[in-house]
Amino acid sequence: MTGRLPACVIDVGTGYTKLGFACNKEPQFIIPSAIAIKETAKVGEQSIRRLTKGVEDLDFYIGDEATNAKGYAVKYPVRHGLVEDWDLMEKFLEQCIFKYLRADPEDHYFLLTEPPLNTPENREYLAEIMFESFNVPGLYIAVQAVLALAASWNRKTENAAILNGLVVDSGDGVTHVIPVAEGHVIGSCIKHIPIAGRNITYFIQSLLREREVGIPPEQSLETAKAIKERYSYVCPDIAREFAKYDSDPAKWTKKFEGVNSVTKVPFSVDVGYERFLGPEIFFHPEFSNPDFNTPISEIVDNVIQNCPIDVRRSLYQNIVLSGGSTMFRDFDRRLQRDIQRVVDARLKQSETLSGGYIKPKPVDVQVVSHKMQRYAVFFGGSLYASTPEFFQMCHTKKAYEEFGPSICRHNPVFGTMN
Ligand SMILES: Nc1ncnc2c1ncn2[C@@H]1O[C@H](COP(=O)(O)OP(=O)(O)OP(=O)(O)O)[C@@H](O)[C@H]1O
Ligand SMILES: [Mg+2]
Repeated sequence: MTGRLPACVIDVGTGYTKLGFACNKEPQFIIPSAIAIKETAKVGEQSIRRLTKGVEDLDFYIGDEATNAKGYAVKYPVRHGLVEDWDLMEKFLEQCIFKYLRADPEDHYFLLTEPPLNTPENREYLAEIMFESFNVPGLYIAVQAVLALAASWNRKTENAAILNGLVVDSGDGVTHVIPVAEGHVIGSCIKHIPIAGRNITYFIQSLLREREVGIPPEQSLETAKAIKERYSYVCPDIAREFAKYDSDPAKWTKKFEGVNSVTKVPFSVDVGYERFLGPEIFFHPEFSNPDFNTPISEIVDNVIQNCPIDVRRSLYQNIVLSGGSTMFRDFDRRLQRDIQRVVDARLKQSETLSGGYIKPKPVDVQVVSHKMQRYAVFFGGSLYASTPEFFQMCHTKKAYEEFGPSICRHNPVFGTMN
């Protein structure tokens, strides 16, 4: 009967963990990837902690409960997408499964996700936890970018289920640009951009600090984050946008209403240029980071130019967005236009250099935005884990017992979703 109950899908991100059952479009739970443990003398040392399996083992919280827990030390087992502490990760998963999903792991197959460039050793650790501690019947570890690509398949195009695409995944901590060809990530061409949700929040916070009075200092970060998520958008041209706001401020300025969490006195903030300047740092990173000044469009172009020549055109045609920080209105349009400009300029240059002798074929740039983009990784995982093929591709408990954790070093690519 195993394998007939819906599979569990868990996507542990740097900032948030998205978890639920296969077949669902959205995660049932979205919780901070945080765990709060009692900080006793025994807890600090990882090697000692492993030996102390007792009652205190159950004394911990995850997610929002962890961030609110008093008298506990809050830890984040994942950094920059990679698991840093496997003991904490095991506890974290334990509550994800038992407390949140309320599932008996022995009855469900599991799909877990990994960041690009995860190590084979990490896959073995994860397999050990899943098969030995939780006794799951089957496990598949999927690459986040590949799932994000799969999440875009259900749009109505004639070339559905294409396995070539360039994924721009922007979450809280980091933005990855990941080329995928035939379902395989081209690892050597991946680039990271040090600008993601958190940086945009900090930038908006600093803009507000210069101008606005009245925001309680201890609430300035959450206020900046809320303003970002609610009011920010990407504009086509900042000079024109400034002019627009200056000529008719009442039309464009928004009012953010908040309440002081200590005194309970309401406060309000006028939100002006921040609306478009926040996400502008994707395109003008030097506004916020003096050490990094390459716009996202140039990075995407660069990544594709580094890929094998025969896949480049198909990558330009299928640039897929994923993650919370790609949700700004018109992010897709601006990215598409800017990449197209970079590409056109290069083609023009080669035409000029050849004295007009070479007439390069135009390259069509398409940035794909879709409804499932916010939780694209979860959604792609949920789609895949509801196909019959998934159950055949999973590593099984039986195979694990026969061959050991090394079987999970590789996870076969899947091709169809029907
Ligand atoms: N509507 C929105 N507009 C803009 N940003 C948003 C919106 N909703 C969420 N965000 C931002 O998206 C980020 C979280 O995204 P996501 O859940 O994809 O990250 P993650 O997977 O936890 O992190 P990572 O991918 O870096 O490991 C936060 O910075 C949040 O402020
Ligand atoms: Mg993520």
